[in-house]
Amino acid sequence: MISNNVVTAGVIGLGGMANEHLRNISRINSIQVGAICDVNQELLNKIGDQEGISQNKRFNNIEDIITSPDVNAIISVVPNNLHAKVIELCILHRKPIMAEKPFTLNVEEAENLNQLYKQNPIPCMIGFIHRYTPSFQYAKKLIEKNAIGQIRHIDVRYQQSFGAPIFKVPYLWRFNKAVAGTGALGDLGAHMIDSARFFVGEFHSVSALMKTFVDKRIDLITGEEKQVDVDDFTSFQAILENDVAGNFVTTRNAIGSSNQHAVTLYGDCGTLHVDIERPNEIDIIVKNELETMPVLKTERVPDIYNKTLLSDFAELILNKEGHDMPTFYDGYKNQKIIDCIIYSAQKGHMVKVNSLILEG
Ligand SMILES: NC(=O)c1ccc[n+]([C@@H]2O[C@H](COP(=O)([O-])OP(=O)(O)OC[C@H]3O[C@@H](n4cnc5c(N)ncnc54)[C@H](O)[C@@H]3O)[C@@H](O)[C@H]2O)c1
Repeated sequence: MISNNVVTAGVIGLGGMANEHLRNISRINSIQVGAICDVNQELLNKIGDQEGISQNKRFNNIEDIITSPDVNAIISVVPNNLHAKVIELCILHRKPIMAEKPFTLNVEEAENLNQLYKQNPIPCMIGFIHRYTPSFQYAKKLIEKNAIGQIRHIDVRYQQSFGAPIFKVPYLWRFNKAVAGTGALGDLGAHMIDSARFFVGEFHSVSALMKTFVDKRIDLITGEEKQVDVDDFTSFQAILENDVAGNFVTTRNAIGSSNQHAVTLYGDCGTLHVDIERPNEIDIIVKNELETMPVLKTERVPDIYNKTLLSDFAELILNKEGHDMPTFYDGYKNQKIIDCIIYSAQKGHMVKVNSLILEG
């Protein structure tokens, strides 16, 4: 039962990204944290004390927090191999959920979940947070107003540096295919796919290259080297809706890039460029009536583009409304494209996304 129009959320998984969600929740009036869950007892105690969560609302078991009667909705921030399980339990127990990306470990999990969801839909959002960047929201509006004419080409990058050998990052779950599904592709590339679908539309085909640059990392528990079996780098070309050509690169080994997700859209009349490192600015290259040539102008994004993933999640639960929010379906489509990219890289040829048997 929701009281005073405030959604009481249960947060599962209290690691790095949960901190970001907890910070955001503290700034939103329509959602609060009422329960938490983690298998790491030390972290559970620390976050419980920090958030003022009573002992009986601190859980170690995923199903216990989902079925807790005071919890109106779930925010799931667990490692990738648990995403499908948490969404499935939320469907079974009719609990609205915001689940982190990537959607699932692989397309098989995604298909199973889709079958279940189609028969029992619940309010569900996937953590494609970057479409909420003010400049991304503004760019979307400009595209809808045809500001750059017909879009011909989209260039998308998502680069981080933490994986580069000089940083000596140890073996983490992110380097283990059984837990992560993929490396840079599912971690960062899932956002690239979402941004392209947000701005342009559906993917029709992909042609990909994947590389692992650091193939062994030290396991801090045993002190021994462990084999990395996911990608550090993935690039792909794509054909999207309306025959838009796409060029995509993601890497965790780009020294100098801390968290750089940038999108450039090239249209017949101009170009738009947005980057999450400059969330309130947009580069617009167009020609107005007084100019002879298109000119680059960097504009400040109007303040109205200020909604957030979790304010939209609360809105969806309270008022059953939402516009341009990342849905279950966006997660499902995203996973299918990820698997087509992997298949293309393995086979060395183009793959059509709608091909059920994933043949190019
Ligand atoms: N949307 C974004 O921009 C974004 C950014 C970072 C991470 N993420 C996603 O968030 C998820 C978590 O990433 P992270 O960086 O916070 O990882 P993390 O390792 O820092 O945190 C994961 C937490 O889940 C807990 N956990 C593991 N198994 C559990 C279980 N069975 N029950 C309850 N808790 C359990 C761990 O103890 C840990 O505290 C990943 O899927 C990742 O892809 C999304």
